[in-house]
Amino acid sequence: MVKFATFALIFIIAIDFGFALCEGNSWNVKETPFPKVKRVNKTYSYRSARANGNVTIANPYAWLEKPYDSDDDVKQFTIDQQKLTEQYMNKCTNAKSITQSIRNAFDYDDYFDWTYYDTAKEPFYVFSLQRIDENRKTYYIASAKQVEAAKKTNFATPPGHPFFKEDGLSVNGTASLSTFVVSNNGYLIAYLVVEDESDVGTWYVRKTSSPLVNPKTKPPGGEGRLPDTILLGDGALIWKPDDSGFFYTQVSDPKAGTNKDIGSVVRYHQMGTPYEKDITIVHPDSDESNNYSFDLSDNGDWLVVMASGGDGNTRAYASLLKGQTLSDKMKWISIVPTSNYAVSSVAIVDRDWYVQTDHDALNGKVAKYTLDWNSITLVDVIPSRAHTKLIFSIIFASNKVLLFYIEKGKYTIYLHELKTGRKIQQVLPNETYTLKQAYYASAKSTHIVMSLWGATSPKKVLEVDFDGSRATDKMLLIKSIKGTNAQDYITESLEAISRDGTKVPYYIVYHKETQRNGENPTLLHFYGSYGRIENLFYYPPHFSWLHSYRGVLVYAGPRGGSDNGEEWHEAGERLKKQNTFDDIIAVAQDLIKRKIAATGEIIADGISAGGLAAAVVARQAPANTFGAILADVAVLDYFLLARTRAGPFQVEDFGDPYNATDFDVIRSWSPLQNIDPIKQKVFPAILVTPADSDIRVVPAHSFKCIAQMQFSYPTSPNPLLMHLQKDAGHNVIDANQDTAIAKYFHQQCFVQLALGLTKKD
Ligand SMILES: *[C@@H]1O[C@H](CO)[C@@H](O)[C@H](O)[C@H]1NC(C)=O
Ligand SMILES: *[C@@H]1O[C@H](CO)[C@@H](O)[C@H](O)[C@H]1NC(C)=O
Ligand SMILES: *[C@@H]1O[C@H](CO)[C@@H](O)[C@H](O)[C@H]1NC(C)=O
Ligand SMILES: *[C@@H]1O[C@H](CO)[C@@H](O)[C@H](O)[C@H]1NC(C)=O
Ligand SMILES: *[C@@H]1O[C@H](CO)[C@@H](O)[C@H](O)[C@H]1NC(C)=O
Ligand SMILES: *[C@@H]1O[C@H](CO)[C@@H](O)[C@H](O)[C@H]1NC(C)=O
Repeated sequence: MVKFATFALIFIIAIDFGFALCEGNSWNVKETPFPKVKRVNKTYSYRSARANGNVTIANPYAWLEKPYDSDDDVKQFTIDQQKLTEQYMNKCTNAKSITQSIRNAFDYDDYFDWTYYDTAKEPFYVFSLQRIDENRKTYYIASAKQVEAAKKTNFATPPGHPFFKEDGLSVNGTASLSTFVVSNNGYLIAYLVVEDESDVGTWYVRKTSSPLVNPKTKPPGGEGRLPDTILLGDGALIWKPDDSGFFYTQVSDPKAGTNKDIGSVVRYHQMGTPYEKDITIVHPDSDESNNYSFDLSDNGDWLVVMASGGDGNTRAYASLLKGQTLSDKMKWISIVPTSNYAVSSVAIVDRDWYVQTDHDALNGKVAKYTLDWNSITLVDVIPSRAHTKLIFSIIFASNKVLLFYIEKGKYTIYLHELKTGRKIQQVLPNETYTLKQAYYASAKSTHIVMSLWGATSPKKVLEVDFDGSRATDKMLLIKSIKGTNAQDYITESLEAISRDGTKVPYYIVYHKETQRNGENPTLLHFYGSYGRIENLFYYPPHFSWLHSYRGVLVYAGPRGGSDNGEEWHEAGERLKKQNTFDDIIAVAQDLIKRKIAATGEIIADGISAGGLAAAVVARQAPANTFGAILADVAVLDYFLLARTRAGPFQVEDFGDPYNATDFDVIRSWSPLQNIDPIKQKVFPAILVTPADSDIRVVPAHSFKCIAQMQFSYPTSPNPLLMHLQKDAGHNVIDANQDTAIAKYFHQQCFVQLALGLTKKD
């Protein structure tokens, strides 16, 4: 089973240039002056290659780095800021309507875990449904006929029958089902139950004919299950071809009688026997630092075990089970004895082990090892492609493989012949939604269900069917937010030319009635770091803004992400970080040139490292590009980040300020250190939204930066404000929806006022 996871200082020199200002931005710094904030004479010294010696950096707001809830001065600072912010927000006379639109964008029932089993006598689907008012999922089993009938009503009611309700697993509701594996004949299901979303839990087994719904009691694993119970499973389980037992991986279990290895182990469980009798196949590594994963050939002959450490590199071994008794003394072929690259299993077919690997392949490739006791070589099957990153590979229809790439910032899927590597076709060539989950039941299956999400819908479910020569697709369902139709929106792929001539991919999403008249408010979202892609995904505040203001939503793919392969990531790293910012500005200017966005009405929107980029482009973009900047849980003082515990993890992407060469580059973009009213007359409207309990990007980034901006621009014609999220960490959207909605309200109200927008719904 495979799961995909699947994130202003405009130079408005004269007022008559500023579109937004013509309509009024509701801001009057004389009426509501910025609070006075204490400054201290603290400095830091860094080595600079350019200066050929040390350079000092002022840190006048060093005291704002103290823990916010234990220091009265810091607390007073946040109270003063919040008061100023609320005075501005009070000018939104439609506050209730804004909040309601945002709430609507969160208000939907969602389907997950779609899998189609065509190996059983009667093919069937498994899926889960989480209703908006429930915090646990219900799993369903439905026949192909029932699913087909449900399509006619766009799944107004879930097809089939409830099979498994998560709330039947524990009295206090903390247990959930983290993954499941249906046996080959479709009669048994192994399911991993975890407490509080942990990675490790207990495997239980039940018959697919024995539902767990509305039980009288709630014993561990639920009423009506089989006695087979495996403690401390960490997610990997494969049934033997005849379903008489299964292989699994397990983490340390000091209480497990004879099975008390410390570290990751591979074991075999025979159905109907006690757990204590399970056979250990592979004991932990001597240094306990590796986790195992494994794969079994379809005929059950070969077992491959992979050991991966925290660095992502892999060692691998294979054993021929046929003719050997399962034990910890079996003979193994050492396939990858020393690990300096990553290997994951695609399939074992006859004596060939097909793998996905980055061995001599920056963007990943499919290759094979022939399982031979005497010599092992790696042979390319589907070579690495330039500017296109291979993310996952799935065996399909026995001798085919589905390859999932990131190409121009979006998922593209190709179907290949596995043995020859020959490309058959691109699958879903025009899809603009992002893949979230693709589960497959067996290597033989000719039918696979994929779950996606996109800018205008939290869920789209598609099926891909292979008829022996071609793959075709059809849609099972698409979820629309109340009062909207996901399919009324158009997504287009465009390119901007960056400062050095590089073509930068980006996407625009807009309602089909929106005109390209140069008058549209435009929300430009980006991330651009760590090789991460953050686009074409469902994000309630983006969709509610798009719907409410009939604007254009844009996702830029600046260098630093892996939109155009790993090369694209490297081209926006460390000494080349400036490329990320140039690319974002290029996209903004292209939007104006193409009359997609109104001049001066582009909102730069970034979260975390994206918030850093938002603050940088606020200063670097030419006048009248951006009208508002939303920097959410943003890194705004890179020198502070380097001093916190997250620091060492940033060096590859952003550099090390204690390195004299890196220092000069960091000094040229770090937002807090580049606030200079002599070089720049004015900042666009800026709202920073730190979270009080954020330990990854501490709120002091925003505290210090907003204090410095307000100090440097005491008569700012645009609001420079902060909204502090209370009792919130770095990622609030999943943890606390009310706090998240309060933040999104502040962002939308701020943008509405700052750009003089009219809400249309
Ligand atoms: C900081 O140093 C400057 C110049 O040395 C001095 O004028 C100022 O009073 C000092 N401020 C504080 C708060 O100590
Ligand atoms: C120069 O900066 C480095 C790095 O911060 C520091 O360790 C060193 O003490 C500084 N040297 C002087 C003379 O200030
Ligand atoms: C909930 O119950 C389970 C046992 O069913 C227990 O392990 C867990 O600690 C409990 N959690 C809470 C928050 O009470
Ligand atoms: C191994 O797995 C455990 C449990 O899932 C996890 O906590 C640990 O970080 C993993 N170790 C490595 C080296 O990946
Ligand atoms: C994809 O879009 C192109 C261009 O609009 C069109 O010609 C083609 O038929 C589409 N393909 C599919 C499978 O929808
Ligand atoms: C300092 O930074 C430069 C540029 O990023 C890098 O090439 C060099 O290896 C770094 N030096 C050390 C000692 O890490």
